[in-house]
Amino acid sequence: MLRFNQRQIEFVFRARRRHGEVFRMRTSMPGGLVVTSHPDHVRSLFTAKPEEAPSLAGESPLRPIVGPNSVLTAVGPRHMRQRRLLLPSFHGEAIERYTRMISDAAEREIDGWPVGRPFALAPRMQAITLDVIMAGIFGIEGRPARDTPEHWLRFATKRLVSASTMPLAQIGELMNMAREEAVGLTRAGLSLLDRPTYAVIERRRRAADLEERRDILSLLLRARTEEGEALTDREVRDELLVLVLAGHETTANSLAWTWERLVRAPAAHERLREAVRSGEEAAETIEATIVEGMRSRPVVPFIGRRTTVPWRLGPYAVSADTPIGMSILLVHHREDLYPEPFEFRPQRWLGRRPGTYEWIPFGGGIRRCLGATLAMAEQRVVLEAMARRLDLEAADPAPERALHRNVTMIPARGGRVVVRSRLN
Ligand code: HEM
Repeated sequence: MLRFNQRQIEFVFRARRRHGEVFRMRTSMPGGLVVTSHPDHVRSLFTAKPEEAPSLAGESPLRPIVGPNSVLTAVGPRHMRQRRLLLPSFHGEAIERYTRMISDAAEREIDGWPVGRPFALAPRMQAITLDVIMAGIFGIEGRPARDTPEHWLRFATKRLVSASTMPLAQIGELMNMAREEAVGLTRAGLSLLDRPTYAVIERRRRAADLEERRDILSLLLRARTEEGEALTDREVRDELLVLVLAGHETTANSLAWTWERLVRAPAAHERLREAVRSGEEAAETIEATIVEGMRSRPVVPFIGRRTTVPWRLGPYAVSADTPIGMSILLVHHREDLYPEPFEFRPQRWLGRRPGTYEWIPFGGGIRRCLGATLAMAEQRVVLEAMARRLDLEAADPAPERALHRNVTMIPARGGRVVVRSRLN
């Protein structure tokens, strides 16, 4: 378990070499964890009846943090209800509104980066995605006035997310495994965030324009169950926290990884810059680069379901009530789907659409990432602006290792680069 947590890449590749594409790990869970990387098995789990293969997220390290009732951790009818409520906020018109905001935030960020001096991209990407999340989820735009709950909420979110990548955070994570409520450092950190969150919820409940507001917090406050009941403050807080945690660090690190790969893949980097600067095949090249970045470094490398009935994974019979993990990393590095899988090669995507059960950085089925459209839009806009305006190099030619934090996999040094020159 420790090796899987600390060095998942080495662990899963070695296990597949030794045992094949289905293997069972011994874990703290009774019956262990069965792991697969076959697209047919992925399909069977993604298309299963919800009650036969509920998500493992409800048992994940996120549960003590966001509680059992959020869209990510709930199962069954409650999950579907929350999903239906939130879905429209992540589509169509809403995304268009965010795109302009992302573009402004990206240009502003790029203006402030040092030239000729190494720095880590991940925190800079997080500054952009934080603005987007604050606006979309809380309806907080720009920099809120000091000493308002909105200001403290933004501040605490930023601090907590950067603290969660520090070595101490891992201890906190281990302490919180399989718990109902957070303890220790995680609990202390959460209470820092909770205070301004509840204050913002309280203020928004009383806001005169609550009915017209389009942010997700206002939407949650207006929502009623079929019995006409409103969500409690705790339920609203859990949902907001999921969206902040799921929505901001993931996208930022996905971008940091794509650049970590690009600055070490000169041909792909050059092709992207040329396409963006000449405008020729720009959209396709940007898309292919992001898809390849998420294939080769999926920020969430592993997802799971708990089958409640006997299951078949090809020749293997799995008994009921067994957790089954899908290694996104292994699926994305299958030779039969992606020849020379360890090469970063965006061209493999030109004229090819990512397969629903073969390219799964956002998971799938009724648990597919709610923010996938937003995350793709953010990545397109930021990647374009960076490729258009910057000549970037790796700060150090050696590839960055992966650090595993909670359910995510992030570049160990945050994607360190040097800006050689910048266009205005
Ligand atoms: C590159 C960025 C992102 C990646 C790689 C990512 C990845 C994932 C994955 C793998 C899942 C689990 C799917 C499954 O079990 O089948 C998930 C679920 C989820 N994601 Fe994302 N995500 C990203 C961005 C976002 C954003 C921007 C938001 C929202 C603001 C978001 C909100 C959620 C939610 C609410 C769920 C739970 C959905 C459910 O269980 O019904 N994610 N994401």
